[in-house]
Amino acid sequence: MKWGFFMADLTPKHVSDSMTSQVQIIMPEHINGYHRLFGGQLVEWIDVVAGVVARRHSNCNVTTAFIDHLHFKAPAYANDTVVIKGRMTYVGRTSMEVRVDAFVESLDGKRELVNRAYLVVVALDENERPVEVPKLILDTPEDEAEWEAGRRRSLLRKQRREEEKALLRQIEEHGAV
Ligand SMILES: CC(C)(COP(=O)(O)OP(=O)(O)OC[C@H]1O[C@@H](n2cnc3c(N)ncnc32)[C@H](O)[C@@H]1OP(=O)(O)O)[C@@H](O)C(=O)NCCC(=O)NCCS
Repeated sequence: MKWGFFMADLTPKHVSDSMTSQVQIIMPEHINGYHRLFGGQLVEWIDVVAGVVARRHSNCNVTTAFIDHLHFKAPAYANDTVVIKGRMTYVGRTSMEVRVDAFVESLDGKRELVNRAYLVVVALDENERPVEVPKLILDTPEDEAEWEAGRRRSLLRKQRREEEKALLRQIEEHGAV
């Protein structure tokens, strides 16, 4: 067994069981040449939060398969407080969709959404192969709405992957078009 433990407990879990938050203050090493938060830094924080949500849901090591709807809505600047919140939205057999919202929090506590991302994270067994994850218990109308939207995104992603595979097969058979 490599890199920590693997425990196949498939007891269904609530969305609240895996919710995760992280808080950062934007430091000089996080900004670009004109004092805005560097986008790649925010993606790193988002990826860590999504990974922890998925670990808490699955009790497994996980890997990010896809980042969907990464949407930078507003800038963040040096010395801002950034709050990053992640929650499960949808689960497949071995994959989990996690929504991660990033806010800038002002000194009076008001929060402005600067980014929303959906990440597909896959649970791995001790051989680093995808492994089944617990079902998600939907407790609130928000949980149900997120699930339905996640289900639709999942279908679209599958369709897109099939199209990409078909295109690759065509290129292999007939050369670049
Ligand atoms: C993610 C990974 C484990 C999937 O392996 P695979 O052999 O394609 O496995 P499968 O085809 O059985 O897919 C497993 C699950 O991942 C989902 N999945 C795989 N690729 C996906 C993609 N590009 N987008 C969305 N979902 C994806 C599948 O739909 C499936 O979900 P389900 O079981 O809920 O239906 C593998 O592609 C991998 O290790 N990729 C590298 C990930 C990585 O290193 N990330 C760090 C950033 S570089």
